[in-house]
Amino acid sequence: AIMESDNSKTQNHQNHELVPHKGFKLISGTHDPDDVDQIYNLEIRDSDVFVVTYPKSGTIWMQQILLLLESKGDVSAIRQVNNYSNGDLIPWIELNGNRQAFITAPSPRLRVTHLQYQFMPSALSHKGKVIYVARNPKDVLVSYFYFHKVANMLETPKDFNDFFEKFLQGDVFGCSWFDHVKTWHAHKDDMNMLFITYEEMIQDLQSAVERIALFLGKELTDEQLANVVKYSTFNNMRKIPQANYEQVPGDLLSHQQGKFMRKGTVGDWKNHFTVAQNERFDEVFNKEMEDFPLSFLWDVS
Ligand code: A3P
Repeated sequence: AIMESDNSKTQNHQNHELVPHKGFKLISGTHDPDDVDQIYNLEIRDSDVFVVTYPKSGTIWMQQILLLLESKGDVSAIRQVNNYSNGDLIPWIELNGNRQAFITAPSPRLRVTHLQYQFMPSALSHKGKVIYVARNPKDVLVSYFYFHKVANMLETPKDFNDFFEKFLQGDVFGCSWFDHVKTWHAHKDDMNMLFITYEEMIQDLQSAVERIALFLGKELTDEQLANVVKYSTFNNMRKIPQANYEQVPGDLLSHQQGKFMRKGTVGDWKNHFTVAQNERFDEVFNKEMEDFPLSFLWDVS
């Protein structure tokens, strides 16, 4: 990309280049490397909560649940999120300008991030909380493929196979799914972390919400908890503009290419992977995850 002529750059390579940065990749125009570097030094409060995900693992789902836990199940709190922090339910710490806002924000400071472990505030080792959400990487790949068509800051894939290879090589924002999950999980005991999977949330949303509430020390009545669950189902979230990034301007997200709340299921990869792709994926997965101490729920099916 560095060798590109000026012509091609101004034509259609606008703002979706991945910029290598300290073993990770940032999106040019979206992230400022110097600003991202300063996240490490942020002061942390006991009440701070960071949701950490590899892209397309259910970030918006956790954003919705955390906001509903704050509002005790009152969904109007979600509908009131308007143009607040670029239309995000809960702000991304790594987006331009958001680190500065974090410093003086009132508690509780809820934030989300796709960043790798090495960029996170070092003070998280003794303060604040982290929720890591992991999802079957095969479903992540499919979801990410479609999202690349919607998101204008990400390059539109040539075709599925091309994207498949890019994903396996970690040549996407988020880099290698394997490294992301392995690194974060390896540091699980270095901080106050809840590690949860998308599949667990699909299997039993009520228990997942209860676990999250317990982890955050939120005391809700049964009725309030029931409302948190009710308004964080796929079908209800699909109807809420704020949970679909609908107020994000068209130059960032091509809304006509598809809804952000796309399908919300487990196993959609089976509708997309060829037998050969699946074998190749399994081979990489088994090699990469050989020493991983946790067996995931999706391994069972
Ligand atoms: P699909 O593209 O497979 O439908 P992220 O917020 O990290 O980008 O993740 C988006 C993915 O999570 C999308 O996956 C989206 O549909 C799914 N998702 C969001 N909320 C959900 C919910 N309440 N139930 C199930 N899936 C949900």
